[in-house]
Amino acid sequence: MLKTMPATITNLSAREILDSRGMPTVEVTLETEHASYTASVPSGASVGSSEAHELRDGGERFGGKGVLKAVGNAEGEIAAALRGQTFDQKSLDARLRELDGTADKSRLGANALLGVSLAFARAAAGEAGMPLYAYFGALAGYEKFTLPQLCFNVLNGGKHADSGLAVQEFLLVPKAPSGAQQIELAAAVIAQLRTLLVEQGHSTSVGDEGGFAARLGTSEKALDMLVEAIARANAVGKVSIALDAAASDFYKDGSYMLDGGRTRTAPELAAWYEGLLEKYPLVSIEDPFNEDDWDSFAAFTARVGAHARVVGDDLLTTNPIRIEEAGQKGAVNTVLIKPNQIGTVSEALEASLLARSKGWALFASHRSGETTDTAIADFAAGLSCEYLKAGSLCRGERVCKYNRIMEIEAELAR
Ligand code: PGA
Ligand code: ZN
Repeated sequence: MLKTMPATITNLSAREILDSRGMPTVEVTLETEHASYTASVPSGASVGSSEAHELRDGGERFGGKGVLKAVGNAEGEIAAALRGQTFDQKSLDARLRELDGTADKSRLGANALLGVSLAFARAAAGEAGMPLYAYFGALAGYEKFTLPQLCFNVLNGGKHADSGLAVQEFLLVPKAPSGAQQIELAAAVIAQLRTLLVEQGHSTSVGDEGGFAARLGTSEKALDMLVEAIARANAVGKVSIALDAAASDFYKDGSYMLDGGRTRTAPELAAWYEGLLEKYPLVSIEDPFNEDDWDSFAAFTARVGAHARVVGDDLLTTNPIRIEEAGQKGAVNTVLIKPNQIGTVSEALEASLLARSKGWALFASHRSGETTDTAIADFAAGLSCEYLKAGSLCRGERVCKYNRIMEIEAELAR
């Protein structure tokens, strides 16, 4: 039997804070009679068109990106409906959805809803005397935790940098028995990568997720650099590579515009990926095609899915309805889980369990606009997600997630 883990909300406040890009986002503090609990909400740049609606103010402030309306909704209508009441996670999230009343959470804002939902998760975990990861696990009926394989985004392209690379993310996947050792291995390769960039006269400035944003010209050059850095770190065979193409961002009018202005049709793009899978130690490709191109996803997964991860992010948007559709079509074998794409903890959990019931792997993910909230690390640990990506080993809002993984690892080892 699942524990209910209720909490009584005595007060709820919210405020506008800045994310790692200096853009406003929502922070919520929820009080019980024992303590107060705070959570904040991340924000994407390469946003899937099926994502829940992030409410922005429009107007002059912050180029229209202010979140005072979402903050006002949390402190006003939502707080008034919740204050003095006892919920568990499921009933709280159901109440939030009912209050909002829209399919895409656009009335009150998915950013307001998720802030409250996450702060409530911390509160309910706190009231139950549980760490947050154990609370997320308990919601799913899990008592044992396997920590995720960590993936580090060390070269930034797409909408996350002006590096000119079409592919958004080039990630290191270091194999080691513990998260701490994976981090150590990644750090060694990143150090070699930095040296290589300097040697070749490239910039070592970083993009939104802390990976280098050098103008390397082509994806192949970026992959060659990673292979060389891995070799120099004596990590051949220990460190693989993953990509997030985020292909919706280089798709236009039926074709894909890769680095250097070359265009490809979907089948040509698929053949290009297959060539990369053969040539490089590549184990995973996220969003290889445009977010509505179910057929190309399905054909690609049928061809490479037995030996590579095909990951749906913009395609699935952590949405159980789209996950169900992808299951029927065989479109992917792995789902990216970003709680703010769907807007409540319960729905992110539902999406995860649905994907798992299809035999897929779970890939937990930060967003490119982040805060120092580390709940995603707890989510990855609590759900025993197979993978977690939280950027490079650079920038506080990225490393805090990896630090939290090491903290959880130490706690589980005790
Ligand atoms: P985003 O990028 O947060 O800008 O959407 C992350 C991703 O595409 O995985
Ligand atoms: Zn993605």
